[in-house]
Amino acid sequence: MRRGVILVSCVQCPQRISIDLPGAGTINGPHSLLGSPSVRPTGNPTSTPNPSRTGEGLVSEEEEGRATLILTFTLRNARKAGLSKTVKVFQTFEAGIHHLETRQAKKSKNTTDDLEFFVKCEVHNSDVSVLINSLKKVAEDVKTIREERVPWFPKKIRDLDKCHHLMAKYEPDLDHDHPGYTDPEYRKRRAFFTDLAFNYREGDPLPRIEYTVQETATWREVYRKLSSLYPTHACKQYLDAFQQLEKCCGYQEDSIPQLQDVSRFLKERTGFQLRPAAGLLSPRDFLASLAFRVFQSTQYIRHSSSPMHSPEPDCCHELLGHVPMLADKEFAQFSQAIGLASLGSSDVEIEKLATLYWFTIEFGLCKQNGSIKAYGAGLLSSYGELVYALSNNPEHKPFDPELTAVHLYQDQTFQPVYFVAENFEDAKAKLQKYALKIKKPFSLHYDPFTCSIEVLNTPQKVKNTLSQMKEELKNLCFALENIS
Ligand SMILES: [Fe+2]
Repeated sequence: MRRGVILVSCVQCPQRISIDLPGAGTINGPHSLLGSPSVRPTGNPTSTPNPSRTGEGLVSEEEEGRATLILTFTLRNARKAGLSKTVKVFQTFEAGIHHLETRQAKKSKNTTDDLEFFVKCEVHNSDVSVLINSLKKVAEDVKTIREERVPWFPKKIRDLDKCHHLMAKYEPDLDHDHPGYTDPEYRKRRAFFTDLAFNYREGDPLPRIEYTVQETATWREVYRKLSSLYPTHACKQYLDAFQQLEKCCGYQEDSIPQLQDVSRFLKERTGFQLRPAAGLLSPRDFLASLAFRVFQSTQYIRHSSSPMHSPEPDCCHELLGHVPMLADKEFAQFSQAIGLASLGSSDVEIEKLATLYWFTIEFGLCKQNGSIKAYGAGLLSSYGELVYALSNNPEHKPFDPELTAVHLYQDQTFQPVYFVAENFEDAKAKLQKYALKIKKPFSLHYDPFTCSIEVLNTPQKVKNTLSQMKEELKNLCFALENIS
């Protein structure tokens, strides 16, 4: 069991007490205190509970059936009978005390023996109400806050080293229908890529791969076929970036681009960077990396027997589907917004955000110059579905996060419905409005200077962030004055 760090202001305490509770140790006060037919996209919405990880700050992962309570109450004549009665209440319910503080009661009627208590304790769920009622019989002003459980999330970019939990069901070692399942050489090669990804640590240079002749031939076939469709089917942002990638990043038929070069290209344009992924990641891990403008990218290629179909993401999907769009500033912000919304969200909310991701970043369409174009990576890396999505066969609906987030998705065949964004700016604004409605006991701020997430849980932190923004605004106002 891991216990969290409490998220409340400290109580200044002029008086100190020290008591021993059986089974709870000594208490001293105060302590400082994607499944299109051609590819299954990365970060698909199939959600499973995320494995627990040790963290700091907001971690509140507890054993089944136990609740963490924060209690405040006042004891009159604490040094006489009040204290021992109160201790007995906690003993009776076998409450594990995590933290206890006292201070002289503000509205003391009698003497300095009137104390206010602040207690954080853990108790069985079924005992919560009866413990509180018992406490009310011996203390005054009993108030409770049931601590909200917040799933662990990365706060520094290096925390992404812990965010590589795989959804392994589509891997060639486990999926009998995988084209590489019966090919021991392919599986051996995949094991090599898996090791590379799992051994990668934030700050390491991205591994450069010497792709085989056969792998390059597979890439060539995919590249040729898809790039013939882009001029008529891809959105303008994609086409602009694709042209740049051909010019600067070795995008061509005869060689598979290296993640290191592509990552450098993206970093210069939108601040996005790549890190190697071993396969299809859990939605929580995948979305969390987007919050840091990090895209977890596979590096292996699909099996040569099936160049137009992969049951899992591969480098064709990442490099041809995702990368060009990540070079667009508005799209990059949209991607990061989904990532930020995911941090600390419940499993239910992660499922909805992953569905939003699915219908936008993987299978999104947008309006452009009176027609509809594709921007989703699942489409732009799938010849068959790209043609189908822009035909009259599927239904096209306007992008509305509230509806899109709960829409049924299809991960075994083409989508029957695609959502069309007015433009990325509009989609981002709608998404941010949606994200604000996700219930969390805090707000978050991404600090681009330190590539870290700040939890805005005190007025001072909000003030500091505002102060930084004021400086930036001043600079912008000055720039406008200069121009005018
Ligand atoms: Fe993907």
